[in-house]
Amino acid sequence: MKLLHIDASPRTVRSVTRKLSATFVGALRLNHPELQVIHRDVGHNPPPFISDAWIGAAFAKGDFNDPSMKGALHHSDELATELLACDALLIASPMHNFNVSASLKAWIDQVVRTDMTFKITEEGPVPLVKGKKALVVTSRGGYVAGTAYDFQEPYLRTILGFIGITDVTFVHAEGVNSSDKDRDDAMTAASAKLIALADTW
Ligand SMILES: Cc1cc2nc3c(=O)[nH]c(=O)nc-3n(C[C@H](O)[C@H](O)[C@H](O)COP(=O)(O)O)c2cc1C
Repeated sequence: MKLLHIDASPRTVRSVTRKLSATFVGALRLNHPELQVIHRDVGHNPPPFISDAWIGAAFAKGDFNDPSMKGALHHSDELATELLACDALLIASPMHNFNVSASLKAWIDQVVRTDMTFKITEEGPVPLVKGKKALVVTSRGGYVAGTAYDFQEPYLRTILGFIGITDVTFVHAEGVNSSDKDRDDAMTAASAKLIALADTW
């Protein structure tokens, strides 16, 4: 199994999502000794935002009238190819301002690309990513899952589904900012869910 593991927290040792995603990878390795992990740390090394040249190149269908257009897709080529080559996707996503972190959004904008991960047809957009499952581990300071304040899970389900990843499981650690005890309890509960999930992957 080839796993693409995205960490999207700007934090290092204090990151809840980094700890939880590492727990899942460790548990998965026990069941899949052949596991290959491609680790993309977008939290510490964010992809660039898309640009005018990027948009021009992405919709030019390889017909570049400006040489700067080809270079504009360099990061997108690398990141989208990496996504297409994996069997499974693990996203560790801190909630920032009710949604994903800006670095994860930058990664999404690089990989959601016409004629690469989706295509436009006369019937509308068609996903091009096939046969992958995804796990999203989130951490939130408050309690928000299923409330009107949660733009993170609905957004990620929508955008992953748009490119063809519909088998998506979410594990949330919530209330982590209330107290050290609440944080520890939330991490213990989420870790238990992740370890159990690793048995069925
Ligand atoms: C800039 C910023 C914005 C945040 N926005 C929210 C929010 O909208 N809702 C919430 O419940 N928690 C929010 N939090 C708390 C984080 O979701 C929480 O600290 C979580 O553990 C972050 O994941 P990490 O520990 O992996 O970085 C925010 C934290 C930061 C630093």
